[in-house]
Amino acid sequence: MSAAVPFPDDFVWGVATAAFQVEGALQADGRGESIWDRFTHTPGNIVNGDTADIACDHYNRWRVDVGIMKELGVTGYRFSISWPRVVPGGVGKVNPAGLGFYDRLVDSLLEAGIAPFPTLYHWDLPQALEDRGGWPDRATAHAFADYAAVVAERLGDRVQHWATINEPWCVAELGYRLGEHAPGRRDPDAGLDAAHHVLLAHGLGMQAVRAAAPGASVGIASNIDVKTPRSAHPADIRAADLEDVFRNRWYLDPVLLGEYPESGIVERGWDQDSVLPGDLDAISAAMDFIGLNYYSRTVVKDDTIDDAERPPPIVAADLPHTTMGWEVYPEGLRDLLVRFNTDYQLPPVYVTENGVAFADQLVDGAVHDEDRRSYLERHFAAAAEAMAAGVPLRGYFVWTLLDNFEWAQGYSQRFGIVWTDFETQERVIKDSGRWFSGEIARLSGRQPVAPGSQPREAVSPVDGNEAMN
Ligand code: FCB
Repeated sequence: MSAAVPFPDDFVWGVATAAFQVEGALQADGRGESIWDRFTHTPGNIVNGDTADIACDHYNRWRVDVGIMKELGVTGYRFSISWPRVVPGGVGKVNPAGLGFYDRLVDSLLEAGIAPFPTLYHWDLPQALEDRGGWPDRATAHAFADYAAVVAERLGDRVQHWATINEPWCVAELGYRLGEHAPGRRDPDAGLDAAHHVLLAHGLGMQAVRAAAPGASVGIASNIDVKTPRSAHPADIRAADLEDVFRNRWYLDPVLLGEYPESGIVERGWDQDSVLPGDLDAISAAMDFIGLNYYSRTVVKDDTIDDAERPPPIVAADLPHTTMGWEVYPEGLRDLLVRFNTDYQLPPVYVTENGVAFADQLVDGAVHDEDRRSYLERHFAAAAEAMAAGVPLRGYFVWTLLDNFEWAQGYSQRFGIVWTDFETQERVIKDSGRWFSGEIARLSGRQPVAPGSQPREAVSPVDGNEAMN
């Protein structure tokens, strides 16, 4: 990055994780079953049959992980709270041990000088609620608000920033329409109802957090993706536009404009029966910030068009791709931030996720992931350009701290800036992590991680969750 980068001193440089991807300990201390417990234990759903039963064992090793973050010098940690740990049945009885875990985590982050940015829902719906209808059922949105109130009452005296829902597109589309994620349903109508109720949960959850923690700063974390037509053929342009509608605008228009995009309503023939009076007011209540997760661009073509009819490609098709198969396209982050700021006049923005999976190798105790370092550097530069163009960006969370359980991809994808050995639970800071630490130091005056030091030497070993409330 050049010296002209406009990141201010109080810019939050953080890392992000999600409960189900790192915690493990699925049976510990009264946690209830989630839809992802059930989904991962159903053969055929996850690459290599992997489960998240242990994952990074973060539930037991969280002090080590906070120590790593402190050493890296991050100033924010975005983590998610597991609903089934806190309210095992989804509604009703609260589990003090579950709340206690997050209470201790928050205290320890604050002691380390790291601002906690919890997300209340990162996909681990209590199975009991799925059994009653899941997100296509309106009652789930109200259950979420009750759970949000419980958490905000407990942590709201110390937590300033709250995200309600992570990536509503993934919840509705991958979970209920396409069946690639838990609960694995393949039902277009259920997908539409789920999308609306997840957004309603955001609105009701925001009210609940604000009631329990006046002064709290609350927003959503949505995923955004560039959709570029393969060619100037009208059919390709239309296909790309519809993908943009269903990926980006379906989730941004309701929270920022109070309406669903008309072209999408028509395309899917949506009757909107699930939208009750007042819903869109709750959904579009002003947010204190918006979180945006950015990874890639998709080049879209209409498959019904014969290639012979298609004009030459608009974009080069030879950009590098990651092991997820995602194109590396940093300019997209800048372009989307600038576009959305123009279309919606954004509130303060955080990039709540950005990062990459490559085929890392641990060799002689080191991971030389130059490709990840370069990916991050280019995306930081794109973010800086967006800021220079007026986007009110306040922070940036790298996905992710540790190699972890990557949903349907299991452990086949390593996104961490810290390597996880899933046999021994050893953590090794990758070169990208050291570089990130150096950048934070350079940009915010903190101490970078000491050359050569690794977590096993630098912080205390596992000490478990001895105090349970
Ligand atoms: C996002 C998810 C996150 C992680 C990254 C790679 O869609 O929010 O949990 O899996 O993708």
